[in-house]
Amino acid sequence: MKNKSLLLSLLLVTILISCSNNQKETEMIEKKTFGKISDGTETFLYTLKNKNGIIAEITNYGAAVVSLTAPDKNGELKDIVLGYDEAASYEKCQSYFGVIVGRYGNRIGEGKFTLDGKEYQVSVNDGKNSLHGGFKGFNKRVWKAEPIMGDSSQSLKLTYISEDGEEGYPGKVEISVTYTLNDKNELALYYSATTDKPTIMNPTHHSYFNLTGDFTKPILDHQLMIDAETYTPVDNGLITTGEFASVAGNPMDFRVLTNIGAKINDKFEQLVFGKGYDHNWVINNWDGSVKKVAELYEPASGRLMEVISDQPGLQFYSGNFLNGSAVGKGGVVYNYRTGLCLEAQHHPDSPNKPNFPSVRLNPGEQYKQVTIYKFSVK
Ligand code: GLA
Repeated sequence: MKNKSLLLSLLLVTILISCSNNQKETEMIEKKTFGKISDGTETFLYTLKNKNGIIAEITNYGAAVVSLTAPDKNGELKDIVLGYDEAASYEKCQSYFGVIVGRYGNRIGEGKFTLDGKEYQVSVNDGKNSLHGGFKGFNKRVWKAEPIMGDSSQSLKLTYISEDGEEGYPGKVEISVTYTLNDKNELALYYSATTDKPTIMNPTHHSYFNLTGDFTKPILDHQLMIDAETYTPVDNGLITTGEFASVAGNPMDFRVLTNIGAKINDKFEQLVFGKGYDHNWVINNWDGSVKKVAELYEPASGRLMEVISDQPGLQFYSGNFLNGSAVGKGGVVYNYRTGLCLEAQHHPDSPNKPNFPSVRLNPGEQYKQVTIYKFSVK
């Protein structure tokens, strides 16, 4: 009898402990308001943390990474991405800070492409071309958010349904992007999408990084390595010509860690067209496996970021359109070249370039992408 009641109380204690643990776990991913957008919809900000103190704040408006901290060589954590303090500013913004862009990230010449003999016209929102999914791409949408606790990671799964015909694209697409912050100091992005009609898919992530953690400083002293022997040259509207050009002997060479500012102002035609770096590099030996494609290093802080991805291309954009008109988190003005993007994706204008890897997605298939930003010091 005594043993039985002892056993019962033990069981009760175990149940109580496990309940309180569960409660602790579900409470661990903090959710707070990120303000209302113009149609009155309330948006939210979720905080992912890892055991090393890294914090990633992500909103369901545009699936944007709002802030992301990384340690420097002395262990000091600083926010290293550009962003805003509330959703309303993201709604007005034209710079794509931290968002998921799509359905087609980057440019499509004149916004036209043909699938199965039918020509499609998508929104033209960048001169005569289409950029980043049109006027109201994935970055201007409210996504459904689901926080997920793992053993050594915290995740936020964001889902969006893009209707057939949205911004001119065929097919109803359901896309999810799961952001996972793990204890290896990686922020991983797992993309998945399906369609009910043949369509094109090329979503990407558009964080502007500044590894100094001081957004008043330009990114010109950062060093960059991209695992690419070639890049895709563009015309003056930044539409790819269809060629793969060698990086050897010109300012596009980032095969080893190279100072970004060293040649950025050279009178090299591609840099003139891009107003700096705004090009797509062709990842060496691309086979769809997840591997390191680039490395970004900031010598003063010692912060190092590796980009690991399964995508065939990497767009390096050196923040050439930042001009001080965006006032970001804490009232900081984002001036010329104070952030840079490393966007894993397919090459620009792929739907019109038969020699580039295909971006077509068919019903019954699943679009997949893995891109990881990994932080350490050197
Ligand atoms: C991308 C493009 C740039 C520019 C930015 C947003 O990275 O390549 O040309 O449009 O987005 O300002």
